[in-house]
Amino acid sequence: MREQTAPLIYTSSRDDTKLIIEGGRPLRGSVTVSGSKNATMGAMAAALLVEEDCFLENVPAIGDVGHMAEVIRSLGAEVEPTSEHGLRINAARLTGTSPPTELVGNLRASFLVMGALLARLGSAGCSPPGGDVIGQRPIDVHLAGFEAMGARVVREDEKYVAETPGLRGARVFADYPSVLGTQNLMLAAATAAGTTTIVNAASEPEVQSLATMLNAMGARINGAGGHTVTIEGVERLRGISHRIIPDRLEAGTFAIAAAVTGGEVEVQGVDLGHLFSFVSKMREVGVDLVEGDGTLGVRGDGELRAVTIQALPYPGLATDLQAPMAVLLTQARGVSYVHERVFDNRLLYVGELRKMGAEVVTTGTTTAIISGPTPLIGSSVRALDVRAGAALILAGLAASGRTEVADVYHVDRGYERIGEKLRGLGAAIERA
Ligand code: EPU
Repeated sequence: MREQTAPLIYTSSRDDTKLIIEGGRPLRGSVTVSGSKNATMGAMAAALLVEEDCFLENVPAIGDVGHMAEVIRSLGAEVEPTSEHGLRINAARLTGTSPPTELVGNLRASFLVMGALLARLGSAGCSPPGGDVIGQRPIDVHLAGFEAMGARVVREDEKYVAETPGLRGARVFADYPSVLGTQNLMLAAATAAGTTTIVNAASEPEVQSLATMLNAMGARINGAGGHTVTIEGVERLRGISHRIIPDRLEAGTFAIAAAVTGGEVEVQGVDLGHLFSFVSKMREVGVDLVEGDGTLGVRGDGELRAVTIQALPYPGLATDLQAPMAVLLTQARGVSYVHERVFDNRLLYVGELRKMGAEVVTTGTTTAIISGPTPLIGSSVRALDVRAGAALILAGLAASGRTEVADVYHVDRGYERIGEKLRGLGAAIERA
């Protein structure tokens, strides 16, 4: 069955769709990356801060955009496509302060409504957010920040409820440089009275991108992209048009797809500034990379070498590329070490990779040791989360024979038309 072209606002609901891959074909050609999933989440929440329309461009057609649209619609916002990759959001008439728990369970980024609603309405409620099973994912950074800014936060049944007569700027220390935590506090602080300083802020490009959007809306945010972010509260913000940055994680995934199949691919529409750690590590593995003007050329015909990788907060190697990199390392000569230092349980895909013949063992839940190269053999495996699923697709492309990746809805949450894009590079991949 041909993969359907996904409409912009769609929900990757839990179903039994599988991807069937006939592996062993080197990928060739060019592929364009979509807009960043995680930057889109922050941008959609930011639109809740104003009464005017906000227009978003380069929005990826992925499940999580559909999930976030459902969350903010449940609060009264209008969300409608303006084109294949464009969205108009209007939050003039907010009718609720708390999205239903079942919607929040689909998506961790739902919790961003807390910062935006506290700023706009002085009241917000949200259940602890769902998301991938990749380890403990506390929200103390978000909650402590709201409290420091003068909100009262209590737990009422399954929800956190926050109220404030008006947020005030504060100096906030984040225990961990949490990406969503930093974004949530920026949303809350943009219109607070006085200046907020987030110390130990996350510096990911998706945080920088939210600051860019908020500043275009009239906010005064300095330092985003570093670990101390200062937000001078302003009276009001205005609606704007904002372009979503390219997805650095999708770019990395396609680059690895080219390398692991011994192919030659140009990944287009990338921001190389966001990919330095990835490019450096790929070169250390022995992949031939050519950096162009918004392009990354990848040639994977050389011998690959074992390396040690460490997934860390930005500018370290992204945790979201840890599983895809591990697949590449199954084809590298020698013993590689993979250390996951962001999440405490993001190696669950290792069991699936072993089914395919990879020689991987884990020590604890955060280190994997890979001996290579080992030929991968097509098998039936399950996508356990969005990135683990992408990693298994890469393994299927490199394997001999037929691989079936089940629970592919996880992958559709974060990758736009992945099967179609890979087919454009010569992969034999179909939905069933
Ligand atoms: N953490 C705390 N306290 C907090 C929040 C987080 O200790 O209050 C810890 C977590 O336990 C975890 C670490 O901080 O060990 C990182 O979590 P972070 O909060 O930074 O992650 P996140 O904001 O929930 C975003 C992305 C993830 C990405 C991480 C790390 C979105 C919607 N999600 O999650 O993306 O892996 O940052 O960069 O932006 C994905 O796209 O597949 C994905 C999971």
